[in-house]
Amino acid sequence: MDGNGRWAKRRFMPRFFGHKQGVDALVRTVRVCADRGVEYLTVFAFSSENWKRSSDEVSGLMGLVLVAVSKYLMKLSDEGVRIRIVGDRDAVGDKVREAWDHAERVTAHNTRITLSVAFNYGGRWDVVQAARRAMADGIKPQDLDEDCLSRRMAMHFAPDPDLFIRTGGEVRISNFLLWQVAYSELYFTDCLWPDFGPEQIDAAIASYRERERRFGGRLPEDATPQAANA
Ligand code: FPP
Repeated sequence: MDGNGRWAKRRFMPRFFGHKQGVDALVRTVRVCADRGVEYLTVFAFSSENWKRSSDEVSGLMGLVLVAVSKYLMKLSDEGVRIRIVGDRDAVGDKVREAWDHAERVTAHNTRITLSVAFNYGGRWDVVQAARRAMADGIKPQDLDEDCLSRRMAMHFAPDPDLFIRTGGEVRISNFLLWQVAYSELYFTDCLWPDFGPEQIDAAIASYRERERRFGGRLPEDATPQAANA
């Protein structure tokens, strides 16, 4: 969800104003995705690296979580949204942790769409914590395989993403879901996050539909018999 700061700056407003509009864009996106039949939507709300921002911005973002949860939780729950939080919850303050725990509890039974909010999350952190869990579970090195780690990753409850969207014009992954995006289709847009809405979502889905997904293999019509067996 990149571009909140620039969106606000263009309007001569403080960065926080952009984040506030970012929450509205997030709620809009959840609704449009649910409407389009998307079953899992995962957003990067706060990265392990975002602690390096000014203390004002960090505390503003933490406060915004509390406001957003109290403003939107029941509405989204009534619309069938299940909320999951992925990331290192131990390092966020008590109030934010309690708000996230509450959001997960209240929405646990919903089935229309799962919104996973990556918060204090980093793709590398995720791989390390999964490896630590495997070691703590007594998995022997020769028994460690991809499935074994996948089951211990923060997103273990969801399929790998089909489509990865980054707003705000940067063309990089920035430590989001590194393990899970191995075969995702990547889509980058200059649209700043607060402006993200139905048009941009439909454009991303249309682009995805044109992609040819091979997962490292080849399409049967392209493949020579030798290549198909390679
Ligand atoms: C990146 O834009 C955005 C963030 C670091 C924060 C995103 C958070 C929200 C939209 C609100 C989170 C709240 C809830 C309830 C999940 P940026 O600030 O890096 O923008 P810039 O690149 O234009 O400076």
